[in-house]
Amino acid sequence: MKQIFDLKEWPDAQAVECEGDVEGIASSIIVCKTDDGYAAYLNVCPHAGRRLDWAPGQFLVSAEKLLVCAAHGASFEMAKGECLAGPCRGESLLPVPIRVEGDYIYLEE
Ligand code: FES
Repeated sequence: MKQIFDLKEWPDAQAVECEGDVEGIASSIIVCKTDDGYAAYLNVCPHAGRRLDWAPGQFLVSAEKLLVCAAHGASFEMAKGECLAGPCRGESLLPVPIRVEGDYIYLEE
């Protein structure tokens, strides 16, 4: 298991970016803080394949706590990654398996 984030360094934000290998490919990963813990997804929007952040690691979050793609505004529910509004409504972000242990988030192998 590879450690990807130290929770003691979590900023004042609902989502952060981490780097890690997903299926052998170096990838940008979004980690979201949810009501139940944390959820992680590839930083690739199902609409047009763009990153969701407007600057590296800077994510838009709506007043309804939806993760908003900076490219064309698709809005994703954070716990499950489903797009609830926007050009890819009904599609989902690709989940990345993580585990939280102590103060760290790890990528599951
Ligand atoms: S690439 Fe995300 S909404 Fe178009």
